[in-house]
Amino acid sequence: MKKYIVAPSILTANFLELKSDLDKLKKAKIKWIHYDVMDYNFVPNLSFGPKILSDIVNNYDFKMDLHLMVKIVGFSVEDYLKPFIQKNVKQVTMHYEALNKKQLIDFIKFCKKNNINASLSINPNTEINKIKKYLPNLQNILVMSVNPGFGGQSFIKKSLDKIRLLNEIRNTNNYQYLIQVDGGINEDTYKSVQEAGVDMIVAGSYLVDSKIKNLEERISKLEG
Ligand code: DX5
Ligand code: ZN
Repeated sequence: MKKYIVAPSILTANFLELKSDLDKLKKAKIKWIHYDVMDYNFVPNLSFGPKILSDIVNNYDFKMDLHLMVKIVGFSVEDYLKPFIQKNVKQVTMHYEALNKKQLIDFIKFCKKNNINASLSINPNTEINKIKKYLPNLQNILVMSVNPGFGGQSFIKKSLDKIRLLNEIRNTNNYQYLIQVDGGINEDTYKSVQEAGVDMIVAGSYLVDSKIKNLEERISKLEG
C-alpha cells in the first residue's frame, strides 16, 4: 500500500521534451501532475497557462494539481480561474500571501461550486496561525519548503515544524485537509517530510529531468 501521493512538477522539464517526460511518468503509473502557474508578479518567473494545460488534459488521464503562484488583478477570482477549470483538474492551490480576504473567500466558494479541492499555500516565512480560521474549509494545505518561483532550490528545514503543526491541528479538530509539501524534495529530504506527516509530495528536479535513469525507484521511495 502506497503511503504518500506523489505529484511530479513539470516545471523542471525541458519543455521541448515535455511529451517524453509525461510518457515516462504515465509508464511509471503516476496519477497526479503538479502544474505550476507563475505570473511574473507574485513570483519573479513566468511559466505556463491554460493552453498547455488543455494540451495535457486532452492527451493524458492524469489528475491535475494546479499550483497558482499569481496575484489576481483586474479580474474577479471566478473570471481569472475559469480558463483553468478543465477536464481532470481536481485541485487548485492559491497562495495566502497573494490574495486579499475577499479573494480568499471567493476562491474557496469557487472551488466548492466547481467541485474542486480548495487548497491554500503558505510561503516559508508565513506562519500557520495566519490561515488557521480557513482550515475547516480547505481540502489541502500546501507547505512551501522553498520560496516559490523556481525548481531546483534547497529545502528549507523549518517547513517540517509546519507540517507537524498542521497534523496536530488536524487531529485535535478532526479537520479533513491533506498536507502537501513542495520544494527541494530529493534523496536527502524525502524521509523527513514523510516522518513529519505529509500526505502529498511534490517533486520537480528529483523526478522530471530527461537525465534521470532510475525514475521508478525514485517514485517508489517517495510513495513510501
Ligand atoms: C517552485 C514550484 C515547485 C517546483 C519544485 O516554486 O512551486 O513545484 O517545480 O521543484 P523542485 O522539486 O526541484 O524544488
Ligand atoms: Zn509548485
